[in-house]
Amino acid sequence: MTPNPERHLSDALPGHLPRHVAIIMDGNGRWAAKRHLPRVAGHRQGVEAVRVIVRAAGELGIEYLTLYGFSSENWKRPAEEVSDLMGLLRLFIRRDLAELHQNGVQVRVIGDRDHLELDIVALIDEAEALTRNNTRLKLQIAFNYGGQNEITTAMRRIAHEVKAGRLDPDAITPDIVSGFLDTAGIPDPDLIIRTSGEKRLSNFLIWQGAYAELVFSDALWPDFTPEKLREAVLEYCGRSRRFGGLDAGPAGQS
Ligand code: IPE
Ligand code: IPE
Ligand code: MG
Repeated sequence: MTPNPERHLSDALPGHLPRHVAIIMDGNGRWAAKRHLPRVAGHRQGVEAVRVIVRAAGELGIEYLTLYGFSSENWKRPAEEVSDLMGLLRLFIRRDLAELHQNGVQVRVIGDRDHLELDIVALIDEAEALTRNNTRLKLQIAFNYGGQNEITTAMRRIAHEVKAGRLDPDAITPDIVSGFLDTAGIPDPDLIIRTSGEKRLSNFLIWQGAYAELVFSDALWPDFTPEKLREAVLEYCGRSRRFGGLDAGPAGQS
């Protein structure tokens, strides 16, 4: 699609907006490599893109935005890169929390925080506590997150409930399972975007994304702009979501 400079981000979009957009922010390393820079430079620029896209999502009227920041498999990377990524989460919360709060953003972190350093857990707790009553945009950051781990943990907790006699195995439904996931209470993503041209989910929202529309952008994450977000949403608006039933028209118009 050719970007149209005349078009403003807040211009009306046809059809229903996705209520929940989730993004696999991929391509920081390649962005840096193209410039002969160390990978961390790509991650730093990626944080700048996060700032811009969070603001743009709010302007577009998106209610829930989930960003994949660090997967449970990313520990396989060199220790220095892992440490850089941890440092950037710290920096992001320290530097941006006040502004996010001012802008009515509710921050929630999903993923396994048991194995994160204590100061990071404290920062996450602070961010969640400060912003818990905000309603303008609900921002979920998936950090040390993996869908298989999330489902396994949910199953373990469900098994404990059954063992304790508080839950009847025959009463377990998909809704009950959803309630045990990190995303309990958050509607499933309508649209999952992955940048950098890769076409896979990499363990992101594998339960919740069962009926999400997928949009793949060739842009590397640091190059992803509000206009590209708008284009992805436009593509979503033109999709026909059937949920296994029959055609109900463009996305969300059922
Ligand atoms: C995404 O960029 C950020 C994280 C996975 C933490 P990458 O670091 O995966 O960048 P590429 O895929 O190597 O270009
Ligand atoms: C997915 O990207 C994880 C995040 C964006 C945080 P990866 O770069 O880790 O995924 P793979 O390894 O290419 O599947
Ligand atoms: Mg990658």
